[in-house]
Amino acid sequence: MRATVRQLNIFASVARNLSFTRAADELHLSQPAVSMQVKQLEDEAGLPLFEKTGKKIQLTEAGQEMYNYALSIKQQFREIGDIMSALKGVQRGHLAISVATTANSFATAILAAFTREFPQVTFSLDITNRKSLLDQLMHNETDLVIMGQPPADLGLVSKAFMDNPLVIIAAPDHPLANNTSVIPWSQLKDETFVVREKVSGTRIAMERYFNSKDIKLKTAMETTSNSAIKHAVSANLGLGLVSLHTLELELLLNRLAILNVEDFPIKRQWHVVHTKSKRLSPVAKAFLQFLDSDKAKPLLQFNYPTFKA
Ligand code: PGA
Repeated sequence: MRATVRQLNIFASVARNLSFTRAADELHLSQPAVSMQVKQLEDEAGLPLFEKTGKKIQLTEAGQEMYNYALSIKQQFREIGDIMSALKGVQRGHLAISVATTANSFATAILAAFTREFPQVTFSLDITNRKSLLDQLMHNETDLVIMGQPPADLGLVSKAFMDNPLVIIAAPDHPLANNTSVIPWSQLKDETFVVREKVSGTRIAMERYFNSKDIKLKTAMETTSNSAIKHAVSANLGLGLVSLHTLELELLLNRLAILNVEDFPIKRQWHVVHTKSKRLSPVAKAFLQFLDSDKAKPLLQFNYPTFKA
């Protein structure tokens, strides 16, 4: 077969997303370009790789085989890259890091501080949801992941390195924002919330909290974006529950208020994660050591809000 690595990469993205459109977005290509590459691969294989059921596509048996090989070829390429960077040492390596949407609020500051130690290291930073982070780990598509508590049953190595307090926010003119005493959690059942998508770590923690109190979560809007939540909350569309990490500017500018609700903040932690079988590159090892070092400490601490008594 005369398939190219590019064709296999494009095919693997369509197979993972089960969508030509999403693969085109992911790869920053046009949809016709993606379709053409997959078509050429199908011509080489002499078999269809996808079949259509209604509006959805799925892999054919040949497609599934091709996908397994495409993943293992991609993995081999990554391993060559890792070995080459090991031979070059940390100085000139590359770190592929994938972080949860919320971690975007602080990840670049950490990368910038790491770059001051190793100026020639380059990065790729993927910002995505929890499910996709776990997929990337399982398919060895990234060096390190920053996420909330990872599942215990996937053979992952993880280390907590920073708090992730979740707080309830409101527009500054919301009646609860001027409450001087602690707001009992039972008052949350009268409120409507602007929430993250179901696969977000923040949303999962939120649902867990509401379930533990037997409160039905009333939602006004669901979105994949923390900024959209903040805009919607400041426009009084509802209350929001977000990580304190996302609020620095809004609190400074007085665009949002943190509510002093009983039980809050919910205390979560950020973890840096890789698979047990991952052969860590020198850069990835240096990054883990950096997170543990005194140099990173100032970046990993922040002020909790204080409330009027
Ligand atoms: P997220 O944050 O809500 O942006 O996915 C990750 C997490 O808290 O686990």
